[in-house]
Amino acid sequence: MCYAIPGKVVEINDKKVTVDYFGEHKYAVNEFMGLKVGDYIYAQGGFVINRISEAEALPVLEAWKELFFTLKAVDNRLVRAKTSTDKIDPAFLKLMDKASEEKTLSREELLTLLETEDRDEQALLYKTANFIRQKHLSNSCCIHGIIEFSNYCTNDCNYCGIRKSNQTISRYRMSEEEILQTIDHAVNILGFKALLLQSGEDPEYPVERLQKLVTEIKKRFHVLLFVSVGELVKDGYRRLWEAGARGVLLRFETSNPILYNNCHPNQLLSSRIDEIKNCLDIGYLIVTGGLVGLPGQESEDVLEDIFTAKMLKAEMYSFGPFLPHPQTTFSKFPPSKLETMLNTIAVARIVDPEAKILVTTALETLGKEEGRKQALMAGANSLMLNLTPPKYRKLYTIYPERFGEEKPIEKQIEETLEVLYSIGRAPTDIGKS
Ligand code: 5AD
Repeated sequence: MCYAIPGKVVEINDKKVTVDYFGEHKYAVNEFMGLKVGDYIYAQGGFVINRISEAEALPVLEAWKELFFTLKAVDNRLVRAKTSTDKIDPAFLKLMDKASEEKTLSREELLTLLETEDRDEQALLYKTANFIRQKHLSNSCCIHGIIEFSNYCTNDCNYCGIRKSNQTISRYRMSEEEILQTIDHAVNILGFKALLLQSGEDPEYPVERLQKLVTEIKKRFHVLLFVSVGELVKDGYRRLWEAGARGVLLRFETSNPILYNNCHPNQLLSSRIDEIKNCLDIGYLIVTGGLVGLPGQESEDVLEDIFTAKMLKAEMYSFGPFLPHPQTTFSKFPPSKLETMLNTIAVARIVDPEAKILVTTALETLGKEEGRKQALMAGANSLMLNLTPPKYRKLYTIYPERFGEEKPIEKQIEETLEVLYSIGRAPTDIGKS
């Protein structure tokens, strides 16, 4: 099982290396000493994460060779498939032409796209976003593994099931040893190359402890490591960077300060945004976004959220639907609609053609089996699989009945590959064009 294709280094310019993949060239940042032209490497998220021998690389490349081009052909065919436009308003058609040509759309125009409820218009919107995705990022789909290592949280977010005032859930905290064992299996047996460690804001996992953990992970495993641990004390993220973390998932949740205050007692939008900017300045790959369908949220707010993710130079957009959790203040509000989520993904793709866009687990929960595929066909190109040990997974109840909660990881991988191959996507993340 493999989630990246090995590439051959063809040029080295200080830390920037050019890597060849079956004739296509991509760039990655190298932090390995003594890397030479001709070496084989694995890259993820634009970073070289491992150097491997030719003997190890060649059989993997041989296995990929045919599949690589077959999948591209399937993707090409689907992108070009015709959809009916007979019943679509000419003004909307014009907007879609403008989007395909990548001319800048005004706020009003983007709002029209975000708000459309017409099935034919939606189909054309998703097709256009899918076209832009392919043009810029080809068929590669990034797959990260997520390990939710603690559901303790000092925050009391009004939508979140692991908020501190929810006394009805059992709390758990994985030990370092358990986390390392989970990573060992993920990297050495399942072949994951990028992992995300997520928890609530857990005071028993302060920066010192996280720093030691990240250091140990980087010592033992060749993996691109993301952390998602909320806001940290001053210099916290710098210390985790020095320990070897290279990505941060931190959503701003909503860019509307009034909504933010409604959702987050005792937290400030400005400090959240500052923390994300701080991570960006340090050099982290940023995964960020917000909740769609929050009580009181308008489509103008969602559009502003997309602009905010772009302003924060998100490497990956993470937008998910609000799903009500019974033990929260927001329990009685309705969930977001699937179409609203798909529209959001498509508009994000139009606004930021180069970004990775994640199909969040919440979206998969909302859209069931088809949701993931629909999102991938509406501009998205990244996935996360849940590697949290099953006994803990069901306790990480940010919202109820999460998609894939019961599925063993091997089954998740099998089903994911089936979906990806059916639409011509390669489970790879090989660097920047
Ligand atoms: N519905 C959807 N997403 C939620 N999250 C927390 N609670 C909910 C909910 N009820 C999301 C937040 C957070 C991420 C870890 O989980 O956006 O950033």
